[in-house]
Amino acid sequence: MFQLPVYARGTLCVRFGKLTPRPLCSSYGEAGHDAVFKAKKPQQDSMSQVNRRSKKECQLILDHFDQQYSEELGDLWASVRSVLVDPHSWQYGVLLNRFTVVTDIKRVLLSQGFSTLLPQKEALTLPSVVPTVFNADCQTSKNSQAKCPKDDSHLHLQNSSHTLIQQPESERCLTLPSLSLQCYIHPYPLRFPSQAHRPGQLKQYYLLNAASLLPVLALQVRNGDKVLDLCSAPGGKALTIMQCATPAFLCCNEPDSHRRDRLAKTLESFLPHSMRSRVVVSAQDGRCFGQREEGNYDKVLVDAPCSNDRSWLFSPADQQVEQRLKQRSRLPRLQVQLLRSALSAVRPGGVVVYSTCTMSTAENFAVVEAVLRDCPEAEPEDLWEEIALPLSTYFTFRPAHRVSGLVTHTQSLQPLCGHASSFDQKLGILVLPQPCKTWGPMFLSRLRKRKK
Ligand SMILES: C[S@@+](CC[C@H](N)C(=O)[O-])C[C@H]1O[C@@H](n2cnc3c(N)ncnc32)[C@H](O)[C@@H]1O
Repeated sequence: MFQLPVYARGTLCVRFGKLTPRPLCSSYGEAGHDAVFKAKKPQQDSMSQVNRRSKKECQLILDHFDQQYSEELGDLWASVRSVLVDPHSWQYGVLLNRFTVVTDIKRVLLSQGFSTLLPQKEALTLPSVVPTVFNADCQTSKNSQAKCPKDDSHLHLQNSSHTLIQQPESERCLTLPSLSLQCYIHPYPLRFPSQAHRPGQLKQYYLLNAASLLPVLALQVRNGDKVLDLCSAPGGKALTIMQCATPAFLCCNEPDSHRRDRLAKTLESFLPHSMRSRVVVSAQDGRCFGQREEGNYDKVLVDAPCSNDRSWLFSPADQQVEQRLKQRSRLPRLQVQLLRSALSAVRPGGVVVYSTCTMSTAENFAVVEAVLRDCPEAEPEDLWEEIALPLSTYFTFRPAHRVSGLVTHTQSLQPLCGHASSFDQKLGILVLPQPCKTWGPMFLSRLRKRKK
């Protein structure tokens, strides 16, 4: 392990003209689902140029998905598919960095119709601001298949000078202690430009798929916790952990050296000097971590290597497809080993959150089931009440459901009482991308290690 060098605390000067969000994204398909997208010059944003540079999905992977997901998701697959194949419909969250001054960024976001995903500590009152209202529907290109109903419930800026934070009914029961986490989302597929790295200065925000916040919320990190992020690069969830609380210690583990460099750079760009002693980057194989550091952590996140559905659909060249599909069949074994290792690393009474960004049952529910079979000390916890219900305004969740012995996803929003046992429901929840709620895919499950 080595100490992470971080740059001195600093803030970036916000120039309003440079922060105009853009309605389309063409730079999709980066390696991680939390990829930070590159800023483009304004003249590159015209619709024609974006369309010209659009990538086509890989037909072989899409065929594979059609076969697997029509079985696993049933009728839901059609609407999920329409989002996955249409990057122009994808939404982006803006996670603010609490270690910088973000007042100006907030103003710009609010003036553009962004709103906070989670209840905030303080409501912000602004003088008269005219929002950019994107009327009609969220169809953003002629390729776009996702159409939104006219629903302005997310836009809180229609009247001048009023309190902006209005939480919908469903959010009021949110019990998560993560009020310092500030993520702004927009009902339409707008995205902010990313901030370039500037030595000695911290970035003010991070662009991400808002579903990536959920595994961190489920981890319930408190000040003073010892936390392990077992599969950490490029660092989106590590950053999110540091936005939620100030752990006594955060170990960010990543065995791949290139990805570890990216992780270190992310941490340097977002964390101030004062956090240096709390964050370390380590380079171990996560499968052996638990043996070496048994019972050392209060909270462990396993954001496992997985067949990232979004990026797999677009990134591989045809000749790599077969290799990818073979890799896909090997992933569950690795994922089981990582989750077992995480359970060894956590102390009795502590929690492990397992997450992936695929909808594949074999990499999600089946992994959790396999681990529970031979780890009697692990107890699954219900995330439906805690996360899915409070946040159902923004995300489309599916609980687990058993079909002829195999746990899969239900085809309704509610847990199917009488069909799915409460044990099945505790195996995890899945965020499915849907038109106008394009967040996900993201699976999350929380296991608590029983006290001896
Ligand atoms: C889904 S990505 C993690 C994304 C990251 N948590 C974030 O939010 O930015 C999975 C990571 O696991 C790493 N990985 C692969 N094999 C691993 C192993 N045996 N032990 C630990 N990490 C591994 C990959 O290199 C990859 O960076």
